Amino acid sequence: MTLSPLTPEDPEIQAKMWNVFRDYFDAAEKKRRWNMNEDIPWDQCNPNIDPAIADVIETFCMIELYLPDYVSKQMPQVRNNKGRAWMLASWGYEESKHSMVLNDWMLRGKHRTEKQLTEMDNSVFEREWNLRYNDPLATVVYTMVQEVATRVNYRNLRKIAGGKCPTLDSVLELIQIDEAAHGHFFRSMVSIYLEHDRAATLERIKMVLNGFAMPVDHLLSDGRRRLGAVKSLGIFDEKLFFNEVATPLLNQLGLTRNDLRGPKIHKVT
Ligand SMILES: [Fe+2]
Ligand SMILES: [Fe+2]
Repeated sequence: MTLSPLTPEDPEIQAKMWNVFRDYFDAAEKKRRWNMNEDIPWDQCNPNIDPAIADVIETFCMIELYLPDYVSKQMPQVRNNKGRAWMLASWGYEESKHSMVLNDWMLRGKHRTEKQLTEMDNSVFEREWNLRYNDPLATVVYTMVQEVATRVNYRNLRKIAGGKCPTLDSVLELIQIDEAAHGHFFRSMVSIYLEHDRAATLERIKMVLNGFAMPVDHLLSDGRRRLGAVKSLGIFDEKLFFNEVATPLLNQLGLTRNDLRGPKIHKVT
């Protein structure tokens, strides 16, 4: 099935999205900004934490490191929508801290050397993340799902690892609060599109949920192994995706699975 054409973004959509962004930004400035040097108890690092945990932190850090691709490839799709464009800039700043703080935890806890971390950076930059969908509405739906899934990953990692290292507990708490705010913002964008073009938005939601995969699988050279490690530690899997990502998102958007019925969409551009 081919995607229905996207309704051109009218001034009303633009104005609503700009207002949502300003609320998001003002709340972030007031309540959510954190300082990497001052807000984390770096002197409480546990260097004896299970190496499997440090390995998952490395995986998550690598995914965060694709930031130049995430921002540069999404920005052209949204440059005529100020709310979405300014969000990408603001979101990019927040995401940049995630890879830095995970990098610093690995270094300060002596889980990786500087040389290993440089090799990690280089291995990431050898590959490129690409837009999953050549369609701005599908992209925002994908980002919404990705952000909620990312939050679940960090939250579950914190549950199993935070108690073993106070520094890591603090790092993961700060990141997952950011990720929750990102998920909430992109869900607000999707709600606005649903109000204005329900059929086209439902079509994208169905397509994204049908074909969703965490980027680790295809982005990292040993992604299959890393995904297996995340699953075996109970951090994320298909069941968690269904119960803690897809189902709550549909509820929050005021949708049911009946709204997504119809022929399965195979076309992914
Ligand atoms: Fe992040
Ligand atoms: Fe995020």
